[in-house]
Amino acid sequence: MSSEFIPVSRPEIAEREERYVLDAVRSGWVSSLGPYIDNFEAAFAAYCGTAFAVAVSNGTTGLHLALAAMDIGAGDEVIVPDLTFVATANAVAYTGATPVLADVDADTGCLSAEAVERVITPRTRAIMPVHLYGHPADMDPIRALAEPRGIAVIEDAAEAHGARYKGRRVGGLGAVGVFSFYGNKIITTGEGGMLTLDDRRLYQRARWLRDHAMSPERRYFHPERGFNYRMTNIQAALGLAQLERIDEFLDARARIVQWYRESIASLSPTVRLNHVAEWATNAYWMVCLEVEHFDESSRQRFMQGLRSRGIDSRPYFYPLSTMPMYASPTPSATARKSRIGVNLPTYCALTRDDVRRVGAAVDEVLREIQPG
Ligand SMILES: Cc1ncc(COP(=O)(O)O)c(C=O)c1O
Repeated sequence: MSSEFIPVSRPEIAEREERYVLDAVRSGWVSSLGPYIDNFEAAFAAYCGTAFAVAVSNGTTGLHLALAAMDIGAGDEVIVPDLTFVATANAVAYTGATPVLADVDADTGCLSAEAVERVITPRTRAIMPVHLYGHPADMDPIRALAEPRGIAVIEDAAEAHGARYKGRRVGGLGAVGVFSFYGNKIITTGEGGMLTLDDRRLYQRARWLRDHAMSPERRYFHPERGFNYRMTNIQAALGLAQLERIDEFLDARARIVQWYRESIASLSPTVRLNHVAEWATNAYWMVCLEVEHFDESSRQRFMQGLRSRGIDSRPYFYPLSTMPMYASPTPSATARKSRIGVNLPTYCALTRDDVRRVGAAVDEVLREIQPG
């Protein structure tokens, strides 16, 4: 077996990507106008089953743009899961609204409808479930709380391209879906993001705000403060090639998770890999190993043990409520989930032998750090 370093993530870029990017560069359409932008938006909307898509500079600006297009701002509250990448809450804070943290489901790690219900107030304007590590959030109970109250649901689908909820792809399950195309994501544009949505007015407003909210009648007159959140045609060329290969990527990820299940001998009710709810198709952005007895120190030793064997890993996200800008009591499922999780290497080029090597290392290091 090779002893080469195994990173956590690696983009899968081949001939098609090179061809489209070269074509975009040679065409002279290097900024945010050009056919690849239009084609990527149209293809991505079709993929998610929405009427429209808006390409943006990254997932964080995408979340901010979605909120801004809905005129969410100071005095409003937006409910986000306590267990997520910090961008989910930061995007809310950028608008002047208050991110309200809610606990997650103990199995999926995604926003729990019961927890949402406890923190809804008359100021709640939106609920932002996150499809964590590629597993969809349980959307129906969240929508059942939101819809009668006129609260918008914005899917943070940054990590879950192609995941399905009850057979339907994420991105089309709320008012807006937001994706990231950062280099470690299921498909990448280097940096980039996408909004997916059905509402024409919201679509037009998002496009307008993305481009400095310039008056269509008077060039360089701006009746509102907008942003430059545009994606380039070069990035879109890369993205379109990636999207055309997404089935290949999703199949590879599912296969790799299966290999992990076969390669880690210590799997048990207390040492688990990715949970998959019966209504979910997991996109497997990240292989998730959960070890019930982990605490901060043993997890750290576990990750160091892997590293000394040439294998990279990542801890689960820390609860947002433990960070200075969002400091508040951490709810129980979030605290537990955050403490026990590690992401193992997950990318399409991993071979069965690579996964066997990681599996053997996981078993060995778990034995080494066994409590008592
Ligand atoms: C859940 C979640 N939301 C938002 C983002 C932000 O996306 P970006 O890095 O493209 O700004 C990310 C990831 O990077 C994420 O994981």
